[in-house]
Parts: sequence; C-alpha cells; structure tokens
Amino acid sequence: MNKLPPIVLPKVEFNREFAFSDQDFERIRKLIYKEAGISLNPSKKDMVYGRLVRRIRELKLTSFAAYVDFLESVSGKREFEQFVNALTTNLTFFFREEHHFPLLAEHLKSRAAAGASELSIWCAASSTGEEPYSLAITALEAFPSGHKPAISIIATDLDTLVLETGRKGIYAAEKVAKLPAGYAAKYFDKLPDGNFQAKQVLRSMITFQRLNLIDATWSLRKQFDAIFCRNVMIYFDRDTQFGVLKKFAPLLKPDGLLFVGHSENFYFASDYFQLRGKTVYQHAAKKQG
Ligand SMILES: C[S@@+](CC[C@H](N)C(=O)[O-])C[C@H]1O[C@@H](n2cnc3c(N)ncnc32)[C@H](O)[C@@H]1O
Repeated sequence: MNKLPPIVLPKVEFNREFAFSDQDFERIRKLIYKEAGISLNPSKKDMVYGRLVRRIRELKLTSFAAYVDFLESVSGKREFEQFVNALTTNLTFFFREEHHFPLLAEHLKSRAAAGASELSIWCAASSTGEEPYSLAITALEAFPSGHKPAISIIATDLDTLVLETGRKGIYAAEKVAKLPAGYAAKYFDKLPDGNFQAKQVLRSMITFQRLNLIDATWSLRKQFDAIFCRNVMIYFDRDTQFGVLKKFAPLLKPDGLLFVGHSENFYFASDYFQLRGKTVYQHAAKKQG
C-alpha cells in the first residue's frame, strides 16, 4: 500500500492581530540597519512586533508586509522617522554609570587650570536628556565659586521624540528622586502637576539636535573636551562602531576624553583611541617612524 505524503501545515502565528512572517522581520532588520546602524538579533522578533504594531494600527494597514511595502514606497518616506523612533531603545537615567562623573569634573577643572575659557561636551546618544543634564550639573558643581569657564553641551540623538523630552527637561518625581542628595532642589523646579523641570541654568547650557551617528558626515564644526557616547554602540556591529570611532577622533581635542558604556570595548580601534581608565578612552599615542 502506498504511504500518503505527510501533510505540511503552513506556519501560522497565533494570538497576533497582524500577520508577521520571518520574511517581514528580515525586511525590517535590513531597513533599520540601513537607517540607524542598529543590528537586530533574530531573537528580537517579538520585540519588533510590539514596537511597530501601533504604527500599523494608526496607518490602518492590515499586515507587517503592507507596512514594509509602505515604508519602501515613495509616499512612505516620512514614515521613516516614526519607524526609527519606534525601534530605538531609549533606556537611560540620571548619573548612569556614576564613576564617569567625578572623572569628568577633574578633567574639566584641569582644562580650566590650563587656561581654557570655554569647555564643550558632546553627548552623542542623549536619549530623553537625563545624561546631558547630569553632565551639566557635574560641570556646574566642578566650579562652585569664582571664575567659571563657559560650558556648552551638545546633546544629539537619532530619535526625534526623545530629543523633544530632553529639550523640555521635564521628568517624573520618581526619576528626579534618584538624583544625588541635594541636586533635585538645587537644579529642578517642581511643577503644579508634580513633575520636575530642569532649571533654566541647566537648560541654557544644552543644545539638543538630531544627529544620526551612522551618517557619512556630521554637522559639528568644533572640537570637544569630552565626548560621551554611552550604551548606543552596543546596538551596532563592529564595522559600524569602527566607522563612528574614526569620525570621533578629529572631533575630540588632543587631550580630550571619550566616555563609553559599561559593556562597550573598542580595543579594535587602537589606531584611534586607547583605554585610559574603566570605559574611558583618550587619543591613541602617535606611532613612531
Ligand atoms: C540606550 S539609550 C542610551 C542613552 C544614554 N547614552 C545612556 O547611556 O543612558 C541609546 C540611544 O541611542 C540612540 N540611537 C540609536 N541609534 C542611533 C544612531 N544611529 N544615531 C544616534 N543615536 C542613536 C537611541 O535613540 C537611544 O536614545
């Protein structure tokens, strides 16, 4: 008797409002890599579904395939901003990786003691602003009295929504409560709705602007005393990280410092940067000969 061939059932995703195939996920992976340099691990499929499902509902589309088709169409160009905003991970908090802040304070003080009248810091993945506000507080606390150098901070991110939050400088009470003792009262105003807003003295030090780290060129024209680029390069592959570090080098002053995230290690870019301390880099010493 002939055996019947096995029945192969199509793979159906249960419990999902919209169809989301592996092929759709692959297309999204390629698009976010091209737009933002973000390398999405295959295990992130559910996360991607959760982050984009609202866009599909809002646009009244019926599947992820239709969403990617839309993104790739001429009329979908403007959707890219929402697409990128939805897929970036923006976790941050005040004085994150706190060991960097006393080092920054010492660095700024030594630059001022050497005669610098202006100090500038670039916060290169500033998210909702907690990091640049922590930098501004550190800079002010470094010069409590007497002559203060002019201090400016450029805070950049790819995500336009988080930049807006940073510009407003308004944070929930629970977030501000985690600041080191005394800083909430000194640097934030309590608003009638219970939130806290960074005081003008801090806000006036920081300029928020959109900048994509993987763009071929950046519209930054000056050199910085310190660059903070923390917890963003973990989303990039090594070639992308190398390309960003190579472009950081001419933007950091000769004795400037580059601060990176706790799980980021750039030993492979030793032609440009060398480790100076825990997750802090300086320019690589020039090779002889
Ligand atoms: C996890 S947050 C880190 C925030 C902060 N630096 C910290 O350490 O707390 C990563 C940030 O990088 C931003 N980002 C991702 N890709 C980027 C890119 N290509 N260019 C600029 N910013 C990017 C995201 O929008 C997000 O706000």
